[in-house]
Amino acid sequence: MADYEAVDDVIETVAAVAPDVRAGLPGRRLTEAGVENPSGETVTAADVHADELFFEALGAIDGVVEFASEEREAAVDVADGTAGEDGLAVAIDPLDGSSNLASNNAMGTIVGVADAPLPAAGTDLVAAAYVLYGPITTMTVAREGTVTTYVIDGGEMTAVEEDVELPDEPVVYGFGGRVPDWPDAFHDYAREVESELKLRYGGAMVGDVNQVLSYGGIFAYPALDSAPNGKLRLQFEGAPIAKIIEAAGGASSDGERSLLSVEPTDLHQRVPVHVGTAEYVERLEAALAD
Ligand code: AHG
Ligand code: MN
Ligand code: MN
Ligand code: MN
Repeated sequence: MADYEAVDDVIETVAAVAPDVRAGLPGRRLTEAGVENPSGETVTAADVHADELFFEALGAIDGVVEFASEEREAAVDVADGTAGEDGLAVAIDPLDGSSNLASNNAMGTIVGVADAPLPAAGTDLVAAAYVLYGPITTMTVAREGTVTTYVIDGGEMTAVEEDVELPDEPVVYGFGGRVPDWPDAFHDYAREVESELKLRYGGAMVGDVNQVLSYGGIFAYPALDSAPNGKLRLQFEGAPIAKIIEAAGGASSDGERSLLSVEPTDLHQRVPVHVGTAEYVERLEAALAD
């Protein structure tokens, strides 16, 4: 089993690196890295910068033996020979919503921590966190079943909310993909939700999920007719976000089961993502089962 002291080191290191990620954004506003990532997506210079900063810092932590990123084909062995194979693996989306940089909208970083080796099921995550680069930089962390939100200022992390829970009354929804590409059952479900909640969709999962955590409601990037497994990646987006939302009293689903129970088969596997207020997740599963 891993040394769980190192989990604190991972969380603190993410907080310490976040300001450097933010500082690197202005100079990389419109620059592409000219490469594609394992998901076949265009990689921006900001993606590469964030990935390298987190690789450097997280790979140097005693007790972290594996580093995997949305931007890298395979997990990297970062054991320094002392920890051997026993140790923590970190799965990271270094810059989530990086296409929002050109339009100066919110972006984030998503991190999952598990015993090595990856890929890991969400149930095996020992911690999950996201950083939100919004008007201020915040970090939301799920550990041992509870969620804490921190403000990050100059690399210092200050807890501002403990035992975070989704509000009882849901208010917002945000659904990704193009409407004509939604399967009929999701389309019908979306029509119902639209008549009940307010639309909040910003195009970066972390920003949209943080709205759901703050106000209650549902975020989904569903299965599409053109992409039956949706767009988001289980290891780097779906599982860590589900860990946080479920620890905050919400629910998650791939359409049939909790995202935490989805069998990990490939480091970059995609999964339909629905997270938020349990009532809306249950209604979604019923709509898709019909
Ligand atoms: P990333 O920038 O890490 O590749 O993630 C982008 C994802 C996610 O942040 C967001 O929910 C989704 O892409 C938005 O997709 P659309 O642009 O299709 O709405
Ligand atoms: Mn990407
Ligand atoms: Mn992402
Ligand atoms: Mn990303």
